[in-house]
Amino acid sequence: MPNNKDSTNDETYRVRKLEITDKNKGFMELLQQLIVCGPVTDDEFQNRFKEFESYGDDHVICVIEDATSSKIIATGSVFIEKKFIRGCGKVGHIEGIVVDSSARGLQLGKKVVNFLADHARSTGCYKVILDCSADNKAFYEKCGFKEKEIQMIFVRGVNFSPFLFKQVNSSPVGHSQQVEGAIEIYFI
Ligand SMILES: CC(C)(COP(=O)(O)OP(=O)(O)OC[C@H]1O[C@@H](n2cnc3c(N)ncnc32)[C@H](O)[C@@H]1OP(=O)(O)O)[C@@H](O)C(=O)NCCC(=O)NCCS
Repeated sequence: MPNNKDSTNDETYRVRKLEITDKNKGFMELLQQLIVCGPVTDDEFQNRFKEFESYGDDHVICVIEDATSSKIIATGSVFIEKKFIRGCGKVGHIEGIVVDSSARGLQLGKKVVNFLADHARSTGCYKVILDCSADNKAFYEKCGFKEKEIQMIFVRGVNFSPFLFKQVNSSPVGHSQQVEGAIEIYFI
């Protein structure tokens, strides 16, 4: 495990794309630190991995493997959305950023976000966006993002009556109600 900021610059903590064998290196356990994942069998993992693989550069999941322990200690993903607007432009959506609790504060999260934003840029995206809690706003600002707009959410099985959609940022407008401190953040 890294023990200082400089150690994150060497090859020991290289960012690479997810590999099918990463399930055996603690990838799912790492995701559990982000959100409840539920059980995923090896077959389910492999099928979903192959599905993602078929999207090529349009859906990239990256990881950092600790070369010493062979454990996956950081991950994140970017989805490239193709639009008609902006001359058939593209937008990158960053999701699922998480660093193992024992390796936080060592620039690994920033490294993952930079890798994904660079990928979005290299595929021609005119902007990169993500949603985050108010607690993580400062982290994404350190990665070069800025707060912009609001986030709306519709969750299957959750009754938002009397409002169909809920605003989830910290400055409610109209009749929306705040359900969590999420904000939308833009890069580029
Ligand atoms: C948020 C998270 C990914 C940050 O990863 P990390 O590797 O610890 O962050 P880094 O070391 O790359 O931090 C980069 C910079 O952001 C700062 N930073 C990180 N988290 C921060 C926070 N919550 N609030 C304020 N600043 C923060 C760091 O101090 C560092 O600043 P510096 O460059 O001036 O030294 C990590 O804490 C995590 O996995 N949290 C749980 C899952 C989660 O909430 N993911 C985000 C989902 S939107």
